[in-house]
Amino acid sequence: MKQFTSVYDIDDPASLVAEALALKKAPYANQALGQNKTVILVFFNPSLRTRLSTELAAKNLGCNVMTLNVADGWKLEFADGTVMNGGSAEHIREAAGVMSQYADILGVRSFPDLEDKDRDYADEVMNAFIKHATVPVVSLESAIRHPLQSLADWVTIEEYKKRIRPKVVLTWAPHPRALPQAVSNSFLEWMQVAPVDLVLTHPKGYELDPSFVKDTPVVYDQEEAFAGADFIYAKNWSPLNPYGKPQPIAKDWQVTAEKMTLTDEGYFMHCLPVRRNVVVSDAVLDGPQSLVLPQAGNRLYAAQAVLQRMLEKG
Ligand code: CP
Repeated sequence: MKQFTSVYDIDDPASLVAEALALKKAPYANQALGQNKTVILVFFNPSLRTRLSTELAAKNLGCNVMTLNVADGWKLEFADGTVMNGGSAEHIREAAGVMSQYADILGVRSFPDLEDKDRDYADEVMNAFIKHATVPVVSLESAIRHPLQSLADWVTIEEYKKRIRPKVVLTWAPHPRALPQAVSNSFLEWMQVAPVDLVLTHPKGYELDPSFVKDTPVVYDQEEAFAGADFIYAKNWSPLNPYGKPQPIAKDWQVTAEKMTLTDEGYFMHCLPVRRNVVVSDAVLDGPQSLVLPQAGNRLYAAQAVLQRMLEKG
């Protein structure tokens, strides 16, 4: 596997889910695999879960791990043919090329700037690393996708589902800041190939990009969407039009205990971090239906399954 940026990089995503679940039972079984191998994780944006789970995943496989936080100060140039007499100190060609000298696998996190949709959806940083690195690249969340999160989400649904084909609802939820669409885009992509009945619900004006929604049913009435659901996955995303601009908070879209009673004793999921009593009420988040902690725990096995495949198959 040369890159892991979306579900389409995997021939058999259900097998990858099974591998993550197997690793959960025996996380240290393949420590020889990573011996004398090095994973470098590059973060252009902050992270708690992705950073810690991917570092631990690499260590569980016996790898060396180095993490580079480049949020401040290090300005990279991505355009070819530029006269670099401005603020950028280094071109991605050298940066990715040099990291490839030290690493067997590169992980990259880079958020969108939420100012120019076309530029964000070109996924410039992730694609530049893939183009110029000479080792496999794992997305630790890009401008438009968060595949390690989605793999962990599928693992969690597989563990907790009470029927062969559960109803899974992705619901927009309020948030005081403008957030990327990456988690939601990715969740749609992975759930579209998972054995689930997927429903998307959001207020009018929060449509996701049609290339990600595809034929997923969209229900604009949140309570109608929740009816009989087995899993409620809440996430905020900023609108595509006007792109990335914060909108007045639609407080009535918060996930509450009352709304959860419409589900079939459904579980609540969220990728975290989550704004309490904005996205979801305390009663849901702290209640028995909440899966947010096991879901975050599964980030470890999702990352480990992906790194393992890269180490095995190159
Ligand atoms: N869910 C997630 O990616 O969390 P972090 O931003 O903390 O990595």
